[in-house]
Amino acid sequence: EVDTNRTNKWKGKKVLITAGPTREALDPVRYFTNYSSGKMGYALAQAAMENGAEVVLISGPTALNPPINVTTIDVTSADEMFEHVKRHHVNMDIIIKTAAVADYRPSSRNNHKIKKQEGPLTLEMERTMDILHYLGQHKKKQFLVGFAAETQDIKEYGRKKLEKKNLDAIVLNDVSRKEIGFDSDQNEVLFMTRHGEEQEIEQTSKRNIAKQIIQLIDFELRKD
Ligand code: CTP
Ligand code: CA
Repeated sequence: EVDTNRTNKWKGKKVLITAGPTREALDPVRYFTNYSSGKMGYALAQAAMENGAEVVLISGPTALNPPINVTTIDVTSADEMFEHVKRHHVNMDIIIKTAAVADYRPSSRNNHKIKKQEGPLTLEMERTMDILHYLGQHKKKQFLVGFAAETQDIKEYGRKKLEKKNLDAIVLNDVSRKEIGFDSDQNEVLFMTRHGEEQEIEQTSKRNIAKQIIQLIDFELRKD
């Protein structure tokens, strides 16, 4: 799977993709994170690259090998991801935010390992920056795509997120279904545009899902 299937379809286009979870430190030995594997984002980076685009992938900690011919930037926390996104987003034509960014982080990071005490531990958490919301607010020419993992009322929540974050499209995942999503190599999603079109992508490999998402984005770009 090298350069051989690369086309010129998106030649000259710049694509920014964020992927994976973020990790929010509590002390030098502990952190908060989530189950995101990064597979969907990495597959999208590869598919966009194979379409001829110049791809920057900003990735939280994953167990994956960086895709070839993609500029991969490794980050740890939501804050760090935001810093790198701010550095790159302005020149981009397409931004796809698959990353499962932590919504909260510990309000203070302990410099030393927290020692256990008798009784329960209460922690205070504070909100992280909503990176996608920031991108929607600062959008110029970019085609902005969000992801959302939901366990219920998927379309309703999806539509609300699309509007609130000023997205051009959102990809919806039903994470209540264990056989797909997160660590799985398979997925099944619903692609929803700002114009209200919905396109189901039936269960298949994340690689195939990624190719279809790139095609749907391409179709939307040709409309504008
Ligand atoms: N997102 C982000 N920065 C955050 C949280 C989310 O950029 N701090 C992005 C994700 O990358 C994803 C989209 O927002 O593309 C939707 O994430 P999701 O967690 O589903 O939505 P939230 O707005 O965080 O709402 P909630 O978790 O309460 O459902
Ligand atoms: Ca969230």
